[in-house]
Amino acid sequence: MDVHKGEFNERMAQRRPDGTSMGCEACHNVRSWVDIRSFDHSKTKFPLEGAHRSVACGDCHKAPPGSQEAQFKGTPKNCEACHDDPHGKQFAPKDKDGVTLCADCHTVQYWAPSTFDHDKRTQFPLTGGHTNVGCPKCHSLEREVQGKLILFYKPTPKDCAACHGPDIRPEQEGEGKTNGENKTEFDERQGIGRADDSK
Ligand code: HEC
Ligand code: HEC
Ligand code: HEC
Ligand code: HEC
Ligand code: HEC
Ligand code: HEC
Repeated sequence: MDVHKGEFNERMAQRRPDGTSMGCEACHNVRSWVDIRSFDHSKTKFPLEGAHRSVACGDCHKAPPGSQEAQFKGTPKNCEACHDDPHGKQFAPKDKDGVTLCADCHTVQYWAPSTFDHDKRTQFPLTGGHTNVGCPKCHSLEREVQGKLILFYKPTPKDCAACHGPDIRPEQEGEGKTNGENKTEFDERQGIGRADDSK
């Protein structure tokens, strides 16, 4: 009898080298039904890698409403089907119906740091004096989305003067230099990243 009600027919139909079909032994062995070491998740279209290796089976394979039994087939493979967007949809592409594609900026290893490439994905590469400046120095704009404060990365001004004060001399702007005076000016200006928001 197939307790899985045909859910695994495809995998059970796979053949051994001698031509016979695998049947239940695609996943089970004669030791015990519970011991499913014969089942190799890396042979599915969703290998368990990185942080997913330590996740319990039942956290991804939930029982459908009204059932006690975990469902395996048809488990979604896209990140956003299982993970909520903590970014308040600020990164959702316009053509995707508000769905944020996590894999654009994250892998299954860890959430932070992200794989977001500032130099390629914004019009403000972090070069010269901006290499290794901490993100919060330029990004501190928070907005409430459904009762939670969420960090918004845009708008952030791109104008030198918006962050470094109005009196940077033109040649400094060109050369990317500031003097001690500007630094003081800069330090006095609180709320970088908020500067544009009032508009
Ligand atoms: C694609 C892999 C796969 C195949 C093929 C498969 N099973 Fe399973 N089976 C599982 C998994 C995974 C579980 C654990 C289910 C759970 O914990 O809810 C399980 C659980 C069971 C259990 C219950 C164990 C327990 O006591 O909780 C029985 C009985 C069982 N399978 C019988 C079969 C039989 C009979 C076949 C062949 C007709 C079969 N299975 C084919 C993956 C498979
Ligand atoms: C992080 C999420 C995640 C975890 C944890 C996970 N799985 Fe899966 N599993 C998936 C996804 C996604 C698929 C669908 C792959 C596909 O479409 O081929 C899948 C597919 C399966 C299948 C179906 C294979 C088939 O041939 O249809 C079985 C059986 C299965 N998982 C068993 C397990 C067992 C047993 C564990 C615990 C040891 C486990 N999974 C842990 C995400 C997970
Ligand atoms: C079938 C559901 C499922 C899919 C698909 C899935 N995940 Fe997960 N993932 C989980 C579950 C469940 C956990 C453990 C609970 C948690 O931390 O949210 C987890 C944990 C993680 C963690 C570790 C979280 C932590 O705090 O340690 C990361 C990182 C992660 N997933 C990234 C991804 C990425 C990136 C993708 C897409 C490539 C993805 N996941 C696809 C279910 C899924
Ligand atoms: C455009 C890029 C981008 C996209 C798309 C994106 N993220 Fe992020 N995410 C980031 C950045 C940047 C951070 C801040 C971490 C860092 O400094 O790199 C972050 C942080 C996180 C954190 C917090 C990490 C921590 O511990 O503070 C989680 C959780 C997270 N993202 C989940 C997701 C999920 C889930 C999705 C898809 C629904 C997603 N992200 C989509 C860029 C992105
Ligand atoms: C010196 C200032 C500065 C620093 C430091 C900085 N950023 Fe930015 N960032 C900007 C500016 C300016 C923009 C807006 C660019 C635009 O409007 O095109 C931006 C945009 C972004 C965006 C928005 C992308 C989008 O498409 O919505 C993300 C995400 C981001 N930064 C992440 C980070 C992370 C993560 C760090 C730290 C590793 C960081 N930034 C450090 C100035 C900075
Ligand atoms: C969104 C805010 C922001 C914008 C826009 C911005 N900067 Fe900066 N800049 C910073 C921050 C923050 C630092 C780090 C200052 C610190 O840590 O004291 C920095 C540092 C620098 C440094 C290094 C200063 C030093 O003392 O080492 C130079 C040079 C610089 N910026 C030039 C520019 C120029 C030129 C522009 C215009 C193309 C510009 N910045 C635009 C925020 C900004």
